[in-house]
Amino acid sequence: LAERTLRPQYLAQYIGQDKIKEQLDIFIKAAKLREESLDHVLLFGPPGLGKTTMAFVIANELGVNIKQTSGPAIEKAGDLVAILNELEAGDVLFIDEIHRLPMAVEEVLYSAMEDFYIDIMIGGGDASRSVHLELPPFTLIGATTRAGMLSNPLRARFGINAHMAYYDIDDLTEIVTRTADIFDVEITGDGAHEIARRSRGTPRIANRLLKRVRDFAQIKGTGLVDDEVTRKALLMLDVDASGLDYVDQKIIKTMIEMYRGGPVGLGTLAVNISEERETLEDMYEPYLIQSGFLIRTRQGRCATAKAYEHFGYEYTGD
Ligand code: ADE
Repeated sequence: LAERTLRPQYLAQYIGQDKIKEQLDIFIKAAKLREESLDHVLLFGPPGLGKTTMAFVIANELGVNIKQTSGPAIEKAGDLVAILNELEAGDVLFIDEIHRLPMAVEEVLYSAMEDFYIDIMIGGGDASRSVHLELPPFTLIGATTRAGMLSNPLRARFGINAHMAYYDIDDLTEIVTRTADIFDVEITGDGAHEIARRSRGTPRIANRLLKRVRDFAQIKGTGLVDDEVTRKALLMLDVDASGLDYVDQKIIKTMIEMYRGGPVGLGTLAVNISEERETLEDMYEPYLIQSGFLIRTRQGRCATAKAYEHFGYEYTGD
């Protein structure tokens, strides 16, 4: 239950992503003023940055119902038709991982999004006929880890595009402090800052680390989360001084030790560290690039001089 109240309900409670909040606030107010449904919204960015939370905040601000589903969950066009058929005027339909919608389903979405109708085929063989179904105006909110994975026709039907960025340390410190308050965790400013600093710009990671540091503080300390207990707990958790976790570290070390820092293909790297290629690409690589440990080149991925230095190797590149 605590997990639920953890999610902010309104834009004013949502920490960070200021640019997106400022834009959405205007678009939501304008839609409400005109008594229209909000234009369709595409949220994209790495996992854990609050895309789902933002979708629920938007529905809340609009004062409408939200139905949640995901790309892989909608297998057939009929599944989507059933969902669309239950929407009321103004409602939000949230589709997570929208890049994983089957093509046949995606095609049904085009007319639904653009003109609020669908044409569906009923029956088979000689008896099959097309049925025209009008829909109430609704808002589709799609979430995806990479906008580039969406087909052009689908992407073009979103009137509002929001690129969720990694959070800065001040915002993450505020989020950790807020979460600690909700969970009744005693925390110092330095403790919150230390967790924030090592959370890879990601609130989901910050909140997870806070829970683990709290456990550590209760068993190995007095229960107070300060910077010292945080450092000890994160050492145990294999989270290094830059916030790189075990997998991040393995990626970079593999590149340096086995491939002389690269270039190495992502698929090869994935096999070497026993992770799915998609996991590497969506969850790990974006932050390693953003923080300057890894670069993408035409020939493959390369470890940077900063990566060599961080892990104590002598840089041999050029
Ligand atoms: N918890 C997780 N992400 C949050 C955010 N962006 N704002 C407030 N609380 C959060």
